[in-house]
Amino acid sequence: MKTIIGTDIHMAQQLLEQGHLVAIPTETVYGLAANALNSDAVLKIFEAKNRPQFNPLIVHSPSWDAAQEFVHKVPAIAHSLAAKFCPGPLTFLLEKKNNIPDLVTAGSHFVAIRIPHHPVALKLLSNLAFPLAAPSANPFGYISPTTAQHVLDSLEGKIPYILDGGNTSVGLESTIIGFDDQENVIVHRVGGISIEDIEQHIGKTVSWATKHEENNPQTSGQLKSHYAPNTPLIIGEISSLHKAFLGKKIGLISLANSYPELHFEERMLLSPSNNLHEAAQNLFSFLREIDQMQLEIILVESLPNEGLGRAINDRLQRAQYIFK
Ligand code: TXA
Ligand code: MG
Repeated sequence: MKTIIGTDIHMAQQLLEQGHLVAIPTETVYGLAANALNSDAVLKIFEAKNRPQFNPLIVHSPSWDAAQEFVHKVPAIAHSLAAKFCPGPLTFLLEKKNNIPDLVTAGSHFVAIRIPHHPVALKLLSNLAFPLAAPSANPFGYISPTTAQHVLDSLEGKIPYILDGGNTSVGLESTIIGFDDQENVIVHRVGGISIEDIEQHIGKTVSWATKHEENNPQTSGQLKSHYAPNTPLIIGEISSLHKAFLGKKIGLISLANSYPELHFEERMLLSPSNNLHEAAQNLFSFLREIDQMQLEIILVESLPNEGLGRAINDRLQRAQYIFK
């Protein structure tokens, strides 16, 4: 199959209507989209990504109102968060109606709903008569794509069309939240909306879903190893790690400190001005780039665990090489 990159929303629409896959831009990362109401089309997503079918997909809708057609018993706190953060990088786990196929939710009674904040995605979604199921458009386990070229690099020949909407502005996947009976917010994945912003809006602290349940992961973002480059990557205190790997071809990814006193084959600064939004925007493309440089080890500085730093650290932890 020939894969074309273009900006033709109408072409994307037609392909999706015919049950084909299209990679679409969002503000977080590129998604690999199919008609969420068509199980045959959705099945193609799992095949193209090599993704296990126990791993459910996010359903993308043009508006919070339009999404109500697919969910029920929506907690008041969810409506309130949606009014504040939708469209945006926040995904809601809500009780699904029967019109959402079981394949989309991997048999769960909950469906993940997201309204992406990207003009091209919103235009496409509002032209369509159905919502789009879309995981990140990368092979299962590899780094999520933040440009159309990233999608082409790993899915060329597997999908007909990549709708190019430029570099993604957030650069990290959405934050995923669920709710309990008492209207508490439960965080399943940290991402593009910070925990601080959510807590400020709801006026109380969030709870956390249990992490690292490797045999029965609720979200693939919770699998211990995910988003991983092929080159071993280690997070920690740079000077002592540098000593430990002396003599190897070492690459560095840090926030703003270039460690001029140490020798690296390659240095990448996520944000020379210490801006966590810029760091998030750069993270996945830097990981892809440094993975191509024939290095033996990538050392990464841990970021401040606040705001987007928390989500960046989370992705880096999962990208980390596990020494056996
Ligand atoms: O920013 C994003 O969320 C991007 C863009 C394309 O929207 N999408 C994305 O999809 O990151 P994906 O499939 O790579 O990650 C979605 C996560 C997965 O870990 C999946 O297990 C979880 O959401 N998820 C989806 N539906 C779920 C459900 N019904 N219950 C629990 N977890 C669910
Ligand atoms: Mg993903």
